[in-house]
Amino acid sequence: MSSSKTIQIPRGLKDILPDEQKYWFWLEKNFQDVAHLSGFERIILPAFEATELFKRSVGEFTDIVTKQMYTFKDLGGNSVTLRPEGTAGVVRAYLEHGMKVLPQPVKLYYWGPMYRYERPQSGRYREFYQFGMEMIGDMDPLTDALLIQSAARYYQKVGLKNLLVKINSLGTPKSRVKVVAVLEKYLSIHKKDLCPDCKLRLKKNVLRVLDCKVAKCKEITSETGHLIIDNLDTESKKRFTKVLEHLDEMKVPYELAPNLVRGLDYYTHTIFEIVTADDDTALGGGGRYDGLIKLLGGADTPAVGYAGGVERTIDALKKQEVLIPEMAKTDIFVVQLGERAKSKVVDLISQLEQIGLRVSSLMGKESIQTQLKAASDLNSPIALIIGDQEVHDRNVIMRDMHDRAQETVIDRNVVKMVMQKLEEKRFNF
Ligand code: HAM
Repeated sequence: MSSSKTIQIPRGLKDILPDEQKYWFWLEKNFQDVAHLSGFERIILPAFEATELFKRSVGEFTDIVTKQMYTFKDLGGNSVTLRPEGTAGVVRAYLEHGMKVLPQPVKLYYWGPMYRYERPQSGRYREFYQFGMEMIGDMDPLTDALLIQSAARYYQKVGLKNLLVKINSLGTPKSRVKVVAVLEKYLSIHKKDLCPDCKLRLKKNVLRVLDCKVAKCKEITSETGHLIIDNLDTESKKRFTKVLEHLDEMKVPYELAPNLVRGLDYYTHTIFEIVTADDDTALGGGGRYDGLIKLLGGADTPAVGYAGGVERTIDALKKQEVLIPEMAKTDIFVVQLGERAKSKVVDLISQLEQIGLRVSSLMGKESIQTQLKAASDLNSPIALIIGDQEVHDRNVIMRDMHDRAQETVIDRNVVKMVMQKLEEKRFNF
């Protein structure tokens, strides 16, 4: 017998209701604008991939792979995994579609849901959205700085303040091996005081010990930061200095974070996270992954990327009380004043609807104030005003509902002018 108990959303998931949509629209639209301005092209990737892809790229012993993946066998017996992040899929697509013949670097951006079986808490979900940018095929330290600049610009554009880039370097894979050995040696001395997770990490993924939030582990690792920088080879140190110099030139504020390691194995050289100064939770993170393309079967190809969390960015916008434009519920509001105007309005509405615009109006005898109030309640970007005088003069008044500027447009040009204005407003949104 079926139970009548209501079914609830699984833990760690959320519905994004109409009230929240303005944030999602605002962030996605601005992300596309910043990505396009910086020369990135969009890629849409599948929500699940072969499990092996994430194991190999994110790393066998990372928290993501060992504890957080939604992995299952499909009906054909293939092991697939809901993507926990976007970089591995982008690299797979780069290789699969032979993008190495394109002019390098190949610059791709994405936006979509990711899945991690994490303990749900504020800012941490099991399905969350990421926006990401990947730049494949350029080794120059300037690329790292440019990518960091694009990410920082995005947060500024959406209205966030007090942003800070926390940055570190892991150097070449060779220096990483050395860093790991030195850290293992140092931390082994304190093994008995480490938390149970870190005892395991000491064997499997020692860098992650530096990232542990347990007080005792933090105390032990508070002095270890220099171990990373000190053990980088000269070339890696020089490269890192160059990245920092470029950031200085670009006036991107950053802070050295000697204990920053990031939770994915593919990183080399620059790694960074972006936070707001009032809250230490990462809005996003990224870095260079020069070995990943080769690891996944391609030629030796350098790359750098960044991904930000949409939910965390929304939380930050709310915390900083950033005003987000309300979404328009109509494209255009037509105001009519007088009987003669009414028949002209009907004709105009039909013309505008035919080209696919959402048109609203009030057809009673309401005053101009009432009709304009209705237009602003719907957040209409434009109002067209027609009275008897406009019927006589064969024109209409076009009003910008945001700055209230008005202009007179002759009848035959109305549709064209409306389209132009809407386009303009779309880009100034
Ligand atoms: P990540 O640091 O694992 O990096 O994730 C990037 C961002 O995704 C985080 O800073 C956070 O804002 C958001 N995020 C991660 N997990 C959750 C969660 N459970 N709930 C809500 N938000 C979350 C990466 O994924 C790399 N692929 C970034 C990258 C791109 N590196 C190079 N290219």
